[in-house]
Amino acid sequence: MEKLVGALFMILCLQWRVSSQQTVEQSPQSLKVQEGDSAALNCSYSDSASWGLQWFKQDLEKDLTSLFFMTSEEKETGRLRSTINRKERLSTLYITASQPGDSGTYLCGVEAQ
Ligand SMILES: *[C@@H]1O[C@H](CO)[C@@H](O)[C@H](O)[C@H]1NC(C)=O
Repeated sequence: MEKLVGALFMILCLQWRVSSQQTVEQSPQSLKVQEGDSAALNCSYSDSASWGLQWFKQDLEKDLTSLFFMTSEEKETGRLRSTINRKERLSTLYITASQPGDSGTYLCGVEAQ
């Protein structure tokens, strides 16, 4: 059987400015994850009034998929989970048991109210 290659995540660091005051930063900027391992990605935003935080995945063909729209403190779909702490203005995306198909760019976007 062929040896499986490790999954590679590239996280685009973004500075999406949705309003003049809003800044969004993601960390880490890029991350290599071995298949089967888990990963955590942070997205911190500057505007406390923001309510609509959304996680996206952009695959290698540049297609954008919405993963989570954070209307509650925690959401989970399969191996993906996301939490948001509105006090700390931080949202974290957790990926467990990563697979090669998880490779891509993960983005978070924040809408100002
Ligand atoms: C994400 O933020 C938490 C809380 O500030 C911190 O403990 C953790 O190291 C950060 N992780 C990354 C990947 O930046």
